[in-house]
Amino acid sequence: MRRAEHKKPKSLREPASHTMRELLIYAKPYRGLFAGVVGLVVIYNLTQVSQPYLVKIAIDRYLLVSHASLGPIFEIGLAYLAITLIGLVANLFQTRLVAAAGQQIVRRIRIDLFTHIESLSMKYFETHDTGRLLTNVSSDTTRISQFFTQFLLSVIRDGLTIVLVMGAMLMLNWKLGLLSATLIPFIMAISLVFRPFLKQRYNATRSRLSRLIGFIAENLTGMRIIQVFHQEQKQLRAFDNLNVPYQNASVSEFKWDVLFNRSFDLLGNLAVAFMAWIGGMAVLHHAIKLGVLYAFISYIQQFFAPINSLTQNWNTLQSSMISAERVNAVLATKSDLTDPTLPVALNSDSPGSIVFDRVSFSYDPLQPILQDVSFSVKPGQFVGIAGETGAGKSTLISLLGRFYDVNSGRIQVDGIDIRDIRQADLHRLIAVVQQEVHLYSGTIADNIRLFRPEVTAEAIQEAAESTGAARFIRRLPEGYNTWLTPGGANLSTGQRQLLAFARTLVLNPKILVLDEATANIDAVTELAVQAGLMQIAQNRTTIVIAHRLSTIRHANWIYVMEHGQIAESGTHPQLMALNGRYADMVHKSSLATAQQFA
Ligand SMILES: Nc1ncnc2c1ncn2[C@@H]1O[C@H](COP(=O)(O)OP(=O)(O)OP(=O)(O)O)[C@@H](O)[C@H]1O
Ligand SMILES: [Mg+2]
Repeated sequence: MRRAEHKKPKSLREPASHTMRELLIYAKPYRGLFAGVVGLVVIYNLTQVSQPYLVKIAIDRYLLVSHASLGPIFEIGLAYLAITLIGLVANLFQTRLVAAAGQQIVRRIRIDLFTHIESLSMKYFETHDTGRLLTNVSSDTTRISQFFTQFLLSVIRDGLTIVLVMGAMLMLNWKLGLLSATLIPFIMAISLVFRPFLKQRYNATRSRLSRLIGFIAENLTGMRIIQVFHQEQKQLRAFDNLNVPYQNASVSEFKWDVLFNRSFDLLGNLAVAFMAWIGGMAVLHHAIKLGVLYAFISYIQQFFAPINSLTQNWNTLQSSMISAERVNAVLATKSDLTDPTLPVALNSDSPGSIVFDRVSFSYDPLQPILQDVSFSVKPGQFVGIAGETGAGKSTLISLLGRFYDVNSGRIQVDGIDIRDIRQADLHRLIAVVQQEVHLYSGTIADNIRLFRPEVTAEAIQEAAESTGAARFIRRLPEGYNTWLTPGGANLSTGQRQLLAFARTLVLNPKILVLDEATANIDAVTELAVQAGLMQIAQNRTTIVIAHRLSTIRHANWIYVMEHGQIAESGTHPQLMALNGRYADMVHKSSLATAQQFA
């Protein structure tokens, strides 16, 4: 697709520090919370570092002396216990605070992302995979929160541990302390060697997973088609073809992860053995006391854990950065359609006239769809549009609702160019009843009310009565409280159409556009839909795109479209007398109807 070659979003080229700064902005409102976390971390770390020191005192001062005394050892034991408890409580609260902050941040990012996605134009959704968007909103935001709950926490907690442990070692014996410090380059080297592999594996798994989710999302939406055409087996194979690479990538990621962590453990154990050997000799030569050796062995173990955790969280940083870049790329996408800087306010008693003035439009620059289309609809008129499939009828409506902007010419509503009207105002003025009626999970009443709480039950019933929807609603076991599924599979096409009419009546727009469903409906339902339409067309400007020409037979004016242009126009009798395309279509459709009932 040509339009897919969007220019690369800005943030993908930006350095990591920029991405990190943008992430930190999300944490700003929770500064207090994070300060509390840091305080608790300091308390916890101090308790951890003082434990080996207490044992060292017990060994050197009270155990390995000629007259060991139990009293002070008991006291040290109590102090040890108290410190452990304090550490435990500090750790507990710290974990809770971090989780709370993380969830708040995720919520903020999700709201931002969702609001932004909603503001994007139809064009964006055509050129972007919705499955990928889904991944952005769900897992990417979770991974971003891990930047705060895991990476940032690790930098503070583990960084502080390393500093404290190093300090304690140097204080106890600076020579042994410096010797231990020589381990740092080795630890660094191991993680530097592994990191690119880990990152590569991580990326591979993620991109395969998002392809898999995209496939699932697409199939769930098209389930009916898949079943109708018996494509289940074929789709299952296609699914498996995506599933296997994902599985392989996951296993490979896991293998490298294990290899890395075990190498690290090995180094840790070697260091302990080394310390026991060097330190043991020092004890034998009376260079240090046994308690100091004990403390050193404990510290060297404490020293490894945070470095391990830091490098592990390096992974978290990587993944949160990738996710943040993706989310930023979505957030950085500007909507193609912008609200005017100086919007023209619409009159509340705006009559609802429409003018298409030499409008040309194409989805693809190489393939013009509408060419120089001009027509006007007076307030309160009922206008029909007919034409072969693909003539550009629905496109006309998408332009009127400003889902796309015209390439040339202009569209005016009540004399105002629609580009000078705020989109929210425009959409309040014009209601489009699409070919496909979208239903939401909720009751019939919810679906008529469209989740606006101010619409009363009486208004809903009134609307249902006058559009004729009430007749079938009354027959439902739970009436207005009958639960509907999003696909609306439990309602017929005609019933859905009537429901959409009732919804529109409650909405009370100045301009109503109906893009009629192509589906054949039976004659009785057709009459019901016809009557419902007549009801809602009253007192408003109505444009009906008709597939059943009987729907627009009584229109004030009919336009016939052909290859993106208006080929004929007039009233039904005039067009019939003309004996052109319209008359031809009428003959064909009555022939089809005759055959259907033959
Ligand atoms: N989103 C789109 N992207 C690219 N081309 C499109 C898009 N929507 C429609 N078209 C093309 O524009 C032309 C007009 O389509 P449109 O949907 O306006 O026809 P229509 O008159 O409403 O047809 P129908 O009677 O089948 O509903 C068709 O050739 C179609 O392939
Ligand atoms: Mg159409």
